[in-house]
Amino acid sequence: MSDVLLSVRDINLRFGGVVALDGPSFDLHAGQICGLIGPNGAGKTTLFNCISRLYVPDSGQIRLGDTDLLTLRTDQIADVGIARTFQNLGLFGSMSVLENVLAGGYHRTRSGFWPTGLGLPSVRGEERREVAAAREVLDDLGLSAVASKPAAGLPYGTLKRVELARALMARPRLLMLDEPANGLIHEEVLELADTIRRMADTRGLSVLLVEHHMAMVMKVSDQVVVLNLGRKIADGTPDEVRAHPEVIEAYLGGAA
Ligand SMILES: Nc1ncnc2c1ncn2[C@@H]1O[C@H](COP(=O)(O)OP(=O)(O)OP(=O)(O)O)[C@@H](O)[C@H]1O
Ligand SMILES: [Mg+2]
Repeated sequence: MSDVLLSVRDINLRFGGVVALDGPSFDLHAGQICGLIGPNGAGKTTLFNCISRLYVPDSGQIRLGDTDLLTLRTDQIADVGIARTFQNLGLFGSMSVLENVLAGGYHRTRSGFWPTGLGLPSVRGEERREVAAAREVLDDLGLSAVASKPAAGLPYGTLKRVELARALMARPRLLMLDEPANGLIHEEVLELADTIRRMADTRGLSVLLVEHHMAMVMKVSDQVVVLNLGRKIADGTPDEVRAHPEVIEAYLGGAA
């Protein structure tokens, strides 16, 4: 088994009287895709927000490699190799697709350039390298044809891929995707699943995937962690999780 990249231990978090997270623990191994599923209100997004430092858990530990994530500020998360996408697209509508993707590498650049001076004759070496890297990512995700188009007005499925491209520009070790298939049509979901699998395999990325689209999760994941009412009720291969009595119960008991 490969090395543990992300280790989550005994995370507890309450919001007033609501126990959002009730002690879940799991490991995510390098180069693997871990699906994080569970009925509505199970605590998936809350756990996501703890890992990306938007929420502070009441207790527990989260490590990425040797780094104790809970000692970091939110703005340091990208520096240690974590990138995430948001459930609601966080793109700049008036900027081009290329500029949006370039913004994903912003934290890495020494000069900290913001991609507004593109096209000037005096493009610096670092900018040139970033643009080349962005074009490579765009090409990889089949977005080259729309690189110079403003993000606003592009189809939703395309924008989801732009968001993924932007996250990849940060060259993360851990990519966190919050419901990436939400709002996509069937063919787009299958395509996205293939793309995520390919990114993990070719870039050695680890992926934490929160998704309600069960077929997609079961197709791409090496490991699936199931939460219900803040507790982890199952953790294993897609086949193991699918056959788990508590998982079946949790889904049949809910709206699903
Ligand atoms: N900021 C907050 N303030 C108060 N309660 C919250 C907050 N965030 C989450 N909760 C509560 O914590 C619990 C877990 O919510 P969470 O959003 O993590 O669930 P989820 O698994 O992401 O659900 P869904 O599939 O519907 O997105 C819910 O009871 C929710 O109401
Ligand atoms: Mg959620």
